[in-house]
Amino acid sequence: PAESTHPGSAPAEVGSATQPAGAALRRFPDGFVWGSATAAYQIEGAAAEGGRTPSIWDTYSHTPGRTLNGDTGDVADDHYHRWPEDVQHVTDLGLDAYRFSISWSRVQPGGSGPFNDEGIAFYSTLVDALVEAGVRPVVTLYHWDLPQELEDEGGWAVRSTAYAFAEYARRMARELGDRVDVWTTLNEPWCSAYLGYASGVHAPGRTEPAAALAAVHHLNLAHGLACLAIRDELGADAKTSVTLNLHVARPADPSSAADLDAVRKVDALANRAFLGPLLEGAYPDDLLADTAHVSDWSFVQEGDLAITRQPIDVLGVNYYSTATVRHFDGDGERQQNDGHGASAATPWVGVTDVEFVEQPGPSTAMGWNIDPTGMTELLCSIAESYPEQPLMVTENGAAFDDVVSPDGRVHDDRRVAYLHDHVDAVGIAIDRGADVRGYFAWSLLDNFEWGYGYDRRFGIIRVDYATQERTWKDSAHWYRELATTGTLPA
Ligand code: NOJ
Repeated sequence: PAESTHPGSAPAEVGSATQPAGAALRRFPDGFVWGSATAAYQIEGAAAEGGRTPSIWDTYSHTPGRTLNGDTGDVADDHYHRWPEDVQHVTDLGLDAYRFSISWSRVQPGGSGPFNDEGIAFYSTLVDALVEAGVRPVVTLYHWDLPQELEDEGGWAVRSTAYAFAEYARRMARELGDRVDVWTTLNEPWCSAYLGYASGVHAPGRTEPAAALAAVHHLNLAHGLACLAIRDELGADAKTSVTLNLHVARPADPSSAADLDAVRKVDALANRAFLGPLLEGAYPDDLLADTAHVSDWSFVQEGDLAITRQPIDVLGVNYYSTATVRHFDGDGERQQNDGHGASAATPWVGVTDVEFVEQPGPSTAMGWNIDPTGMTELLCSIAESYPEQPLMVTENGAAFDDVVSPDGRVHDDRRVAYLHDHVDAVGIAIDRGADVRGYFAWSLLDNFEWGYGYDRRFGIIRVDYATQERTWKDSAHWYRELATTGTLPA
């Protein structure tokens, strides 16, 4: 059998759908979508231009002490002005699709009420340019930048935000729906709810456990209402999706019942709190029980769970790393080693008997362990639970401390190896029957990495923030080869 030469990747199966016996290369199915992803606040800049008003991330990043080095998205990659060049990069990379997000406060400054034609025109022109270049636009409606005015009225902790979101979604569908390929309602609602309202390491920086659980529900409701609005505008054929960052949590000691129960709790909070209402129309009983001392979940109203459960054309999956968890008995200091703030969020929503265990290396500059087997495991487990649901990897990638060589290039071998092994892991999942339709590298460009500002670089294209010059890293050249051939080199 052909085995990957890259350490850490599981051997491919022999004679499978994407890997013919004896071949050293992995072929992906025809029609598999290769893309790259970005998000508005992370790349656009022009924070106060064209009628845009502040979002919660403007407020948060401008609050001293919130982001590393006090970095903000004021300028970011200046994509608002440089988008033609960025579209050219997408085209030159030979990508089938480009995933980006709309800044809500750019198109509807107050988050409700009048829309801003100038903001809508920006996205309309961008979508036109992509379509013209033969690239499918995959649009995320909410990538964490809630208009500040809505936060002032309670943010995701209040129900009205979900209805405001649906009106915004409806208008975007009306304006762009004839050209957009896939509508993604929310990106990683786990982060919006738990990091935004429980641990406070993301905007709006609140630390209110009950509000975080209300936010979980209002985000799920917002997704459902938005899907209904989009289909109402565009008809039943409109393609909708949601992107989740599901956790691959493994027990520190698989033979320990307490550790297995810790895994169950993380799975309930991080995964089933979204999968349940969105795909099955119910919150898991154990989630409600685990959090009963924090909230009675009375914000879930009659009929809501029929709204949250909408058919989606693809489920977006963002995958970066795995977590090892165990029961915490209160003795000593709880381990909090999870760069995504998962361990910080879990106790904050009242689940205090779980800890995240230090992972063995190797890890990325985020401190996240590198484990491509988690990608296969995650895709296969979703496919097993929801066999009819097509999947798409909407984000995968890695931050490393890139170095510009004297030749002016960035030889980011570790990022190439990371991408290789994770794409291979997607192929293995497909071989095992998971219906995965595409893969998006995070990210097209180095950009504003939220609380870590510009210090962490995820791009396959380097951005020199002093000059805004874009330079292809080796990983971009490598990814172009993959995207244009559909074949993963050994
Ligand atoms: C998840 C988020 O969607 C994206 O905004 C972020 O930059 C990457 N993961 C890396 O942390």
